[in-house]
Amino acid sequence: MCGIVGYIGKRKAYPILIKGLHRLEYRGYDSAGVALINEAGQLNVYKAKGKVAELEAFCAEKDTRGCIGIAHTRWATHGEPNTINAHPHYSESERLAIIHNGIIENYAVLKAGLMEQGYTFKSDTDTEVLVQLIEYTQVNQHVDLKTAVQLALQQVIGAYAIAILDKEHPDTLIAARKGSPLVVGIGEEEYFLASDATPIVEYTDKVIYIEDEEVVVIHPVTDNPSPVTVTTINNVTKTPEIKRLELSLSQLEKGGYPHFMLKEIFEQPRTLTDSMRGRVNVRQDNIALSGFIDNKDRFLNAKRIIITACGTSWHAGLIAMYAIEEFAQIPVEVEYSSEFRYRKPVINKDDVVIAISQSGETADTLAAIQLAKSKGAFIFSICNVVGASIPRVSDSGCYTHVGPEIGVASTKAFTAQVVALTMLALCIGREKAKMSPVTGNPSPLTEEQFVRIVRELGQIPDKIERVLGQNKRIADFSKTFTYAQNFIYLGRGYNFPVAMEGALKLKEISYIHAEGYPAAEMKHGPIALISQEMPVVVVAPHCGTYEKVVSNIQEIKARKGRVIAVVTEGDELVSKIADYIIEVPETEECLTPLLTVIPLQLLAYHIAVVKGCDVDQPRNLAKSVTVE
Ligand code: AGP
Repeated sequence: MCGIVGYIGKRKAYPILIKGLHRLEYRGYDSAGVALINEAGQLNVYKAKGKVAELEAFCAEKDTRGCIGIAHTRWATHGEPNTINAHPHYSESERLAIIHNGIIENYAVLKAGLMEQGYTFKSDTDTEVLVQLIEYTQVNQHVDLKTAVQLALQQVIGAYAIAILDKEHPDTLIAARKGSPLVVGIGEEEYFLASDATPIVEYTDKVIYIEDEEVVVIHPVTDNPSPVTVTTINNVTKTPEIKRLELSLSQLEKGGYPHFMLKEIFEQPRTLTDSMRGRVNVRQDNIALSGFIDNKDRFLNAKRIIITACGTSWHAGLIAMYAIEEFAQIPVEVEYSSEFRYRKPVINKDDVVIAISQSGETADTLAAIQLAKSKGAFIFSICNVVGASIPRVSDSGCYTHVGPEIGVASTKAFTAQVVALTMLALCIGREKAKMSPVTGNPSPLTEEQFVRIVRELGQIPDKIERVLGQNKRIADFSKTFTYAQNFIYLGRGYNFPVAMEGALKLKEISYIHAEGYPAAEMKHGPIALISQEMPVVVVAPHCGTYEKVVSNIQEIKARKGRVIAVVTEGDELVSKIADYIIEVPETEECLTPLLTVIPLQLLAYHIAVVKGCDVDQPRNLAKSVTVE
């Protein structure tokens, strides 16, 4: 969490930093701040509680001169969200200023040591400890700033992406990372730093991704042949690799929609087409997934597949469990990364671990991968952000290619994850089927079924378009439910994770409590909650357990619950008993989540809008969870 941005060059830094903070606001938005060194050599720090707009208002009358600066948008970890705890933080002498994304776990010990040396602290943050430690090292060991940063970071336990200004060196920007992302943009005689490439894209497409435990020094003075140098915290020189960005400015704009979330919901027909491009070939009835082709044996010999993820990505993982077990007959376990990494799980060399993450930076998922890797498992990741940490530490994987997802509530990333995982399940299943005459194992996936699903995948974007056509109606009846304090979401089989995903969407953007349950579990407890006041969303497309779900709806109606049902077009049974109906086109059972989740995304969106909630930046949340 937290977004960091930095600039050094010939232009005025402040507007570039503020624009960058707006782009990074999805990462955290409880306070923001900026530090600039002006032409007179003064290091000015300005901070404000709240969003970046508050900081801008605060800075309106301030001295924002200077061609070098750093800025930060915060998601609080240590210390409440207020101005004092906002970044940047000065060092004791106010010579240095730092911004930080991450957590210094041993900050208390370090702080106690510094206090013994007479250092004082203004904030409750772990970050202030780090800048004091750097200054202490600089002063007491008589070393330059880069060495002080290296030595200080050698003592740190935790995660960081930091950027530092030193008013004695107004021509140098220093940054470092471990566990939190950091990218350097290389322009014409100007350089940028950021948590991701979004603040950089309009200035340059040349970037360097800084690796863990690396320190970057940017010193663009005349005659310096190497304005950007990278070393490790142990001072080993690295040769930075310059990469080209595949990101365009238009992808970062709302394109006429009132919110990024709505834009991203409506983008899904196109984003799924992009995700399948070059992979799903409907004319040849084929799926070509390079990450699978290159590592076929690992999948075919896997005794077990472990899926690890958080939040919405975890829901996509649950859907994959149904698909992989159905088509490939490999046992699947789906783990919350945060539990998996700490519960001493049994991981074998012939396990395949699939990590799913939109951002590719989620700290718990990254740690789960590292644990599985240390036990010799093969790591395959499904990620959206190209070049993020998770794909870089994985053995292989598949990008979802949906473009930047800016709304904090994940929508288009989820459907693309489901598509990627379904393609993978089908590839494994088909390959197993080919081996069936040799192994003697009966194949769970027939060629006919494979072809049917491939062709149907090709139809999914158009079918989503049809579901989106009901947006107006969903918006209208959503108004009826803004009174509700609680919601229940029910589904079975492939649509049980969809129920959980619908509930998560509602919780995070409308602040209404909601629970997703397997429909048949209702009678084991949640049925006690049903009353006239309780809206129940039932995901009931034509699937294997359809009749049983219809019985569950009867049970809810018998107790006067209000039912919103997602059904297959032409459904007659549920349409007669539910209060509100949303229809989705008929499709293969394994693909139903791609259609049934769309109305649930829209329902949550419209309820949140009517309630006046901040849809794209809901309270307490951040898009990229880089702390555990
Ligand atoms: C979903 O709407 C979320 N905001 C959240 O649950 C998210 O899916 C989770 O934090 C995992 O993120 P990742 O996919 O980037 O790893």
